[in-house]
Amino acid sequence: MLKGRHLIDPMDFSLSEKDEIMDLADKIIMNPKLYADVCKGYILATLFYEPSTRTRLSFEAAMLRLGGSVMGFSSAESSSAAKGESVADTVKTISSYADICAMRHPKEGAPKIAAMYSDVPIINGGDGGHQHPTQTLTDLLTIRSIKGRLSNLTVGFCGDLKFGRTVHSLIKALSGYENIKLVLVSPEELKVPDYIKEEIQLKNIDFVEVDKLEEIMPSLDVLYMTRVQKERFFNEEDYIRLKDTYILDLKKLEHAKDDMIIMHPLPRVNEIAMEVDKDNRAAYFKQVKYGMFVRMSLIMKLLGVSIND
Ligand code: CP
Repeated sequence: MLKGRHLIDPMDFSLSEKDEIMDLADKIIMNPKLYADVCKGYILATLFYEPSTRTRLSFEAAMLRLGGSVMGFSSAESSSAAKGESVADTVKTISSYADICAMRHPKEGAPKIAAMYSDVPIINGGDGGHQHPTQTLTDLLTIRSIKGRLSNLTVGFCGDLKFGRTVHSLIKALSGYENIKLVLVSPEELKVPDYIKEEIQLKNIDFVEVDKLEEIMPSLDVLYMTRVQKERFFNEEDYIRLKDTYILDLKKLEHAKDDMIIMHPLPRVNEIAMEVDKDNRAAYFKQVKYGMFVRMSLIMKLLGVSIND
């Protein structure tokens, strides 16, 4: 039963609950008009203390396409956080106005604190360099839709695997499926944090860490590119030195499988050359669209609304 639950970490929902959300997303994709009024009378609040294009606007688009309404703020400066209000007090207030909240915050754990004080479901829309569970639902739906499966896959993650919260969440979620092999491609300074590696080791997930993208390309079913997260660096010199370590272009794709898919949570900075956008394997803009549909499904499930289908 997903009604009334919070989504803070990708493992808050079981495999069958994630399937339930993806199955409903598939139905919405097939016939979106059927769902146009299902959230009429409900309000989604978007509490974004950090910049966002896709997550905030796809949540808002999702609720509007379900016939509901939206309200919120898109920066800490435009809320009473600027006057020193705590997340707990803000959320207690917002849960008097809205039926469900999506929140992004620069501090790891802030959405978890919010969930402790909220009377309505809290959805983590990204907390610092920690987790981004709705991007994970987006990514799982994208892989399932295009590859037709979430098991028996070799998945490469490339770029900033230290600060990339979408990477942390997707690695955790994929570790629940059968026969997943992970290839973690990063410079030494941007390797996956130990706490994530310990979790996947406990599940006996096969993974390797390498620093060259080219040599592992032929083995991959999915290549998940990421941006180097400038906003998480303490030192600009380090960012400048590392930011262009990996730039995916058509030349590098020559040795990739014909049916490999290229994913990226976006925003892209420089890590995928524009020429790749025309390649049939580029899936990152399809991924954006799956993100809206999976959030429509998630909102419906957490509010406990449905149609008689
Ligand atoms: N993928 C993602 O989280 O994008 P935004 O930062 O634009 O929300």
